[in-house]
This record gives sequence, structure tokens and C-alpha cells, in this order.
Amino acid sequence: MSEATAVESSKAVIEVRNLTKDRESFLRKPLRVLDGLSLKVEKGMTYGLVGPNGAGKTTTIKLLLGLLRADQGSIAVLGAPPGDKAALCKIGFLPESPYFYSHLTGREFLTFSGQLFGLSGKALNERIEQLLATVSLQKKADERTGRYSKGMLQRLGLAQALINDPELLFLDEPMSGLDPIGRMDMRRIIEDLKKGGKTVFFNSHLLPDVAALCERVGLLSGGKLLAEAAIEEISPQRDARALEEFFLKHIDTPAQEVAT
Ligand SMILES: Nc1ncnc2c1ncn2[C@@H]1O[C@H](COP(=O)(O)OP(=O)(O)OP(=O)(O)O)[C@@H](O)[C@H]1O
Ligand SMILES: [Mg+2]
Repeated sequence: MSEATAVESSKAVIEVRNLTKDRESFLRKPLRVLDGLSLKVEKGMTYGLVGPNGAGKTTTIKLLLGLLRADQGSIAVLGAPPGDKAALCKIGFLPESPYFYSHLTGREFLTFSGQLFGLSGKALNERIEQLLATVSLQKKADERTGRYSKGMLQRLGLAQALINDPELLFLDEPMSGLDPIGRMDMRRIIEDLKKGGKTVFFNSHLLPDVAALCERVGLLSGGKLLAEAAIEEISPQRDARALEEFFLKHIDTPAQEVAT
């Protein structure tokens, strides 16, 4: 089993070639969760990875961040191998199930997150105020996160992901747990990030959001990239229904067991 190595790339912010990842199933049998995945994300692009539960979307993000090691293949993120410290300083990450220290307030958590990036003093305080406003959490900033609702935690998770003003953002199911206003806010924030030239890689089950936000969409199923296309090719009007049809066309829907 060889470790993933960096690949040279001039324009690509993310470049993945032939990535394979095996894990152990419940009965300790090897399970191939990613199988020959190759993809490329250019600077300033918003890339949406969609696919059924268990397709390997979260695994892909974890491999790109260096939180898991690949069994085969190569990965370069911001021109460096996954987990490279200098590259990580330019990356923001909103995990699928963010973890928060429940005894800290939202503001304290963001202070802690900022300090990990070497921020301090007035610059950090200003950044925190700005982010609390961006995610509409000012009124809850001094409450302990143990008392936050799921959507509030998701908003705090996004603020945390943005604390270092990253060039590249990984968002794993960013709309999860958000109410309709929260979802609109999240869309607006991602739009603003795009306008600011940031590169965004996100996993989502919500095809209307993917259609509205992404320049390129990859469809992952059973660890394989079944299809990839520019949103322009799927629907120049960014129509969610067209993306749904693209999804269904490429997914093998197994025969349903019929109860007799
Ligand atoms: N810690 C683990 N140990 C063993 N197998 C795992 C582990 N985590 C995930 N898997 C398996 O890896 C496969 C891919 O999981 P992954 O979490 O990447 O899917 P996903 O596409 O993000 O799904 P979802 O849409 O439900 O979030 C699944 O078969 C899952 O059971
Ligand atoms: Mg997932």
C-alpha cells in the first residue's frame, strides 16, 4: 500500500488521481470505499460532489485534508500533499458533524479557533464580530454552545471555517440542519465567497443548492465517480430538476425487493 503523493499542478487547487481507499466493514472484511477517483478543481471554482448515502463523499474530503490516508493514488491540495501545514493555514473546513466544546460560548470558541491560526487582539476580535454578523449569531455569541440548536451550531461551524479567511473551503453538507432562512444565508455566504475568488468544494444532497452554486458537479456512487459535468452542460439555467435527471440517469437504481 503506497501513501498518496503530491502531484504537480499549476492551475488546479485540488488535483486527485486514481484515489483508492479501503476500510473494514462490520465483519472486518475489506471494503473499497473509494475506487480510482480522479478529479480536478480549478482556482475560484465551486465544485459540488453529490451522491447517495455511503457513496464516499465525506471520505473524499477527509483524504483531501489529510485526516485519512489513501491506499493508492495521488493528491495535491494547493500544490501540496494533503495535511501540509502551510496549505492547511489557507484552508477552511466545515465538517459533516462539527464538534464543539459545550462549556465554551460561541465567541470563546471562535477566539480559540482564531488563536490556532495565530490570530489575536484587535484583529481577532474584529474578525469574530464580522463573522458573527455574517452567520447571524450576534445575539447568541455569549451563550454556551451546549445550549445551541443544530442550526446554530452549523452557523458557528461555518464561522469557524472562515476564521482564517481561507483560500479554499471544504464544506461537508453545509445546509444540514438549517432552516429555510439559514439555507438562504448559507447560499448567500457561498456566493460572496465565490465573488471574493475563493475555491469551494462541497458535498450536498440538496440538488437545488448544488445547481444554484456550483460550476462543476461530480456524481459519486459506490466510491466511483460515475459522471462529472459543468453545470452549463447539465442546465444553463441552473435548473435543479435537470440536475436531478442527470443524477438519476447515471445512478444504478437497484431493483427493489417487493414484499409479497
Ligand atoms: N470509520 C469507518 N470505518 C469503516 N467504514 C467506514 C467508516 N466511515 C465510513 N465508512 C464507510 O465508507 C463508505 C463511505 O462513507 P462516507 O461517509 O464517505 O459516505 P458519504 O457519501 O459521505 O455518505 P453520507 O451522504 O451518508 O454522508 C461507507 O460504506 C461507510 O460505511
Ligand atoms: Mg457524508
